[in-house]
Amino acid sequence: MNYDNFYPFEYEPLSYNLEELNPYISEYTLYFHHDKHYKNYVDKLNALIERRPMLHNVSLEALTKMSDDDIRTNAGGVYNHELYFASLTPDDTEPSEKMTKLINDSFGSEKEMWNEIIESGLGIVGSGYVWLVLDNDGKLDVIVTHNQDTPDFDKYAPIFNIDVWEHSYYLDRQNRRVDYLTAVKSVIDWERAEKMLNSAE
Ligand SMILES: [Fe+2]
Repeated sequence: MNYDNFYPFEYEPLSYNLEELNPYISEYTLYFHHDKHYKNYVDKLNALIERRPMLHNVSLEALTKMSDDDIRTNAGGVYNHELYFASLTPDDTEPSEKMTKLINDSFGSEKEMWNEIIESGLGIVGSGYVWLVLDNDGKLDVIVTHNQDTPDFDKYAPIFNIDVWEHSYYLDRQNRRVDYLTAVKSVIDWERAEKMLNSAE
């Protein structure tokens, strides 16, 4: 994911195969989610700004803050999904020593952090995302956003996000969002999270 990318926005392939996140996230869910839902946001965003050349050198992040509802929503759909799919991996990764210290300083323990992520994800009414972010005080925080909104980037640098729109889990787990959030814990890419932390700092 390149935060400095500009029009035309590219549909980014997954860095793993569709079936590789089984049994945590099925290939059916990933196929519809990545190849259909996410792609649709890329195509719509490009179509929306195709004839607005003044927006061709505006970054994706900046487009997610525009007042135009369609542009903001579709740019958010691109940004949020690209971070989400990049935040997942079939590889077994662990938080680094540095990340572990930051997690402990911010939440008490990794378990406490996950409790907060899961509780916050469950608390979202309707559609949205739960995020692990670095705040301006250098601590990790859990925040939520609704629909395709993005975090206030002046306050929060994203480390990873988890999509909690129903399309993320309904084929696999129907209404059991808690099972999905618990499963995602097993496929978070902590190496990727570390890179996000380093660039946030
Ligand atoms: Fe989604």
